[in-house]
Amino acid sequence: LDDPAADPFEVAARAASDIARLTGVPQHDIALTLGSGWGKAADLLGETTTTIPATEVTGFSRPALAGHVGSLRSILTPGGTRVLVIGARTHYYEGHGVRRVVHSVRTAAATGAKTMVLTNGAGGIKETWTPGTPVLISDHINLTADSPLEGATFIDLTDLYSSRLRDLARTIDPSLDEGVYCQFRGPHYETPAEVQMAKTIGGHIVGMSTALEAIAAREAGMEVLGFSLITNLAAGIQTTPLSHQEVLEAGQAAEPVISDLLARVIGTL
Ligand code: 6GU
Repeated sequence: LDDPAADPFEVAARAASDIARLTGVPQHDIALTLGSGWGKAADLLGETTTTIPATEVTGFSRPALAGHVGSLRSILTPGGTRVLVIGARTHYYEGHGVRRVVHSVRTAAATGAKTMVLTNGAGGIKETWTPGTPVLISDHINLTADSPLEGATFIDLTDLYSSRLRDLARTIDPSLDEGVYCQFRGPHYETPAEVQMAKTIGGHIVGMSTALEAIAAREAGMEVLGFSLITNLAAGIQTTPLSHQEVLEAGQAAEPVISDLLARVIGTL
């Protein structure tokens, strides 16, 4: 993937065949990326048939972060759906380039998955969102100034976060709120002024992932569902300093609720 001459889709196809070989599952139906706080949220989905260290799959890098699992799992739901759980996100701020960031999404598409569920832990701009609140992503603002698309690939991003899937999620939990996710580069959190900018331009959620992955998922023809777990309010909205520890603790506290939500939503897809 670091070789500009390499075809990232060919690398993703090799990764998908590694997954098929290591799991014994030729095709997956749905892929689910677990963000901060969501690490255990896949445990209620069904029976885990295989767990693979991400390092055994072509193009995946070692996880950089505590709270990120570094493995891929194949889960069979009670309804017979095969879910590829990606607990090995590469973040844009790691600096390995956007190809590495979206490799898991392209791999998921190459395994046959038609639906991409992206989750993250993020900061909230709406004061009514207390830490531990899961919200649907309705749209995004990509503030990375980068794109996973190479060359003249002019794709439409209307309804990127599928309104059909959001409606389905709300049949499970009608109280689910939604908002526009702003992907900042990170790894520092935003300044209060940057949070005000995000709010002014129409953002409700600030984070460091997801938007670039969603674009790659659309390019690959997948339908996207996005969830943010609000782990804290963004800088200047909350008056206390932000910490990664706080993000992890909010995730742990929300675990039972978001695990149940995810299992029921994925059960209906
Ligand atoms: Cl406040 N900002 C960003 N960019 N990511 C976060 C966050 C804030 N809180 C959790 N993750």
